[in-house]
Amino acid sequence: MTDFAVLPDPYRVEPIAGTLDSTVVLPGSKSLTNRALIVAALADGTSTLTGVGLSDDTEAMIGALEALGIQTEVDGTTVTVHGRGGALDVPASELDANQSGTSARFLLPMLAIAGSGTLTGHEQMRGRPMGDLTKALRGLGATVESDVLPIPVSSGVTGREVSIGAEVSSQFISALLLSAPAFRDGLDLTLVGTPVSQPYIDMTISVMAAFGATVDVSEGRIQVAAGGYEAQTYAIEPDASTATYPLAAAAIVGGRITVVGLGSMSLQGDAEFATRVLEPMGASVFVDNDSIEVRGSGILDPLSVDLGDMSDTAPTFAAVAAKASGTSSVTGIGFIRTTKESDRVQASVDELDRLGVSSSVDSDGFTVSGGPHQTTAVDTYEDHRMAMGLALVGLTDAPVDINDPGCVAKTFPGYWDMLATLRAEARPAPLVLAIDGPAGSGKSTVAKLISLVLRLPHLDTGAMYRAVTYAVLQAGVHLDDHAAVTAAAESATIVVGPSSVVIDGVDVTTAIREPDVTAAVSTVAAIPGVRVVLAESQREWARKRGAAVLEGRDIGTAVFPDATLKIYLDASVDERARRRASETGDEDLEAMKIAIAERDRLDMTRETDPLTVADGAVVIDTTSLDIDGVVEAIANEWPSRQ
Ligand code: DC
Repeated sequence: MTDFAVLPDPYRVEPIAGTLDSTVVLPGSKSLTNRALIVAALADGTSTLTGVGLSDDTEAMIGALEALGIQTEVDGTTVTVHGRGGALDVPASELDANQSGTSARFLLPMLAIAGSGTLTGHEQMRGRPMGDLTKALRGLGATVESDVLPIPVSSGVTGREVSIGAEVSSQFISALLLSAPAFRDGLDLTLVGTPVSQPYIDMTISVMAAFGATVDVSEGRIQVAAGGYEAQTYAIEPDASTATYPLAAAAIVGGRITVVGLGSMSLQGDAEFATRVLEPMGASVFVDNDSIEVRGSGILDPLSVDLGDMSDTAPTFAAVAAKASGTSSVTGIGFIRTTKESDRVQASVDELDRLGVSSSVDSDGFTVSGGPHQTTAVDTYEDHRMAMGLALVGLTDAPVDINDPGCVAKTFPGYWDMLATLRAEARPAPLVLAIDGPAGSGKSTVAKLISLVLRLPHLDTGAMYRAVTYAVLQAGVHLDDHAAVTAAAESATIVVGPSSVVIDGVDVTTAIREPDVTAAVSTVAAIPGVRVVLAESQREWARKRGAAVLEGRDIGTAVFPDATLKIYLDASVDERARRRASETGDEDLEAMKIAIAERDRLDMTRETDPLTVADGAVVIDTTSLDIDGVVEAIANEWPSRQ
C-alpha cells in the first residue's frame, strides 16, 4: 500500500510503453458502502458487509456510527455492524463527517433519530450545500439550527410528509430515505423537479430493499414504511466510479483492462461509463454479469455526451476528451460545480489549459479540443477525482505531474499502486494470433470466429492488398511500375473494419472481391515495397490493440515472426475451389481450380515473403474438418484461455 508520507509531491505519471493487459480488482463502492453502513446501523441485529471499500470517507462514516453507539469491527474488507434496531446514542461530542459528502448528508437524519447532537466536518465540507436537507428535516418536525456545517440538531423527526427539491443533489433524497424506516411513521417524500443522478436514488432504494425495507416509488413521490431494517450479510460491489480510471486507461493507452465484480447487473450508474463513453469513442467494450472489459487502440474519436446521471465520471471524461482526435463536450453536469469536492467543471478546464489542451466552460458542462499536452504540474483541489482523472492524461505522449497526490486516499488509497501495476503488466509487444494459408483454406472464417471467441480484434490483411490493388487499377497505374504502386500503397489510408474495407474514404468492401482485383492482387502483393508498407501498418495496427488475430500469407513468417501462436491452415485444391465457388456463385469449378492453383503458385514462389509454413506453426488441414472444432482447438492453444 502506498506510504503517503513518502509519496513524492508532485507525483510524476509517465507514459506507459507498450499495451495494457491487466485484470483489476477494485475497492468496494464508496456509495454502496456508506449506504449499507447506515442501513446496517439502523437494522435489528448484526450485519456483515463484505468487499467494503475502506477509505477516508468510509472511515469517517464508521467513526461517526461508533459515536452514535453502533459497534463495528473491521477485518480486511469485511465490516461487522451491530445494529440496535433504530436506537442511537446522542453523541458525546461533535459528529465528524470529515471530508465525506455522503457521510455528512446521510448522518444528519441519523442525528435527528438520535434526538440531538451537532454534525461537523472538514473545512471543505463546510462550504458544501446542506440546505435542502436541513429544510426537509425541519419540515418533518426536527429542530435543525444551521444550513451549513457545523449543524446542531436538538429534536427529532415527528412527521411523515415533506417535499424536497430534487435538482440539486440526489444525496439529500438518499439521506432521508435511508433513515426513513427508523422514523416513527416512515416517510412520504414528494420530489420537486426532475432528480439529478437518478441511478444513485435507485441504488439507495435497492440497498434499503436488501435489508427488508418497504419502499414505494411513484411519479414524483417516494413512500417508505416505518418498521426498521433486518440485519443481513451484504456484498458490496467494486466502485464503478473508480473503475472508470483503469477502463479509460485501456482506451487511452491501448490494450485490455478487465474490471471484475462489476457488470450488467450493477446497481451503480457509473458502471455504464464504458458503454456510454468509451465505446462510442472507439474502444471495444464487453460487459457480462460479473465483469467489464475494455479493449482500446489508443485512438479515440471525439464525443458529445450528457453525463447528468453519472457526473462523478466528469474528470475521467476530461482525460479521454483530451486524448480524442477532435472536439468533445459534456453536458448535464452544471450542478457539480457547487456540490462536489471542487468545481470540477472549472477545475478540469483550468488544468487541461495548463497542460496546453484547449478547453472551455459551458453553461452546463465543458468542451475539450483533444490534442498533444505538455509536461507540467497540475493542481488537484484536494479532490481525489481530479487527481485520478488528470493522471490518465500522463499515460501517453508526455508525463504529467500531479500535485497533492495523497488526496486520492479519500476513496482509493491504492490508486498509484494500481497505475504502477498496470505499467508493470503492460506488454512491450502485442499478443498475436497469426493465421496463414492459401486462398480457400478457411482462414477468414476461422479468424472471424476465433476473434469472437477470444474477444480479439481481427485484421484481414488480404483485404489490404486487395484495397491497394483496387486503388492502383482505378488510377490506371501500370502494375510493372513498382515505384508507382508502392507510392500508392504508402499514401493510401486503409481502414479494414469487421465488415467493411475503406481506402481513402471510399468503401470498397464489395469492389475488392471482383474478379479484376482477384486476378491482379498476387502481382501487386509480390512487389517488395508494397509488402514493406503494408507489413509495417499491420504491425502498428496490432501494437495499438495489444492483442489481435491477423490473417494472411506472411503473418507468422514476416510480419510477426515472434507471434504468440501461429496457425497454418490448408486444404486440398479441390476443396478450396469448391468453397470459393459456393461463395462467389461461380459454376465453373475447373476454372476455379486453375485460378486457385495459379494464385498459390504466385503467392508461394514470389521472392519477398512467399507463402510458406512459418517456424513453429501448427498446421491444420481443414479439407474434411468441422470449422467449429478447428476454432475450439485453436482457442485452446491461446495463452489467456489456458
Ligand atoms: O486472402 P485473400 O485471398 O483476400 O488475399 C489476397 C491476396 O493478397 C493473396 O493472393 C496474396 C496477398 N496477400 C499477401 O501476399 N500477404 C498477406 N498477408 C495477405 C494477402
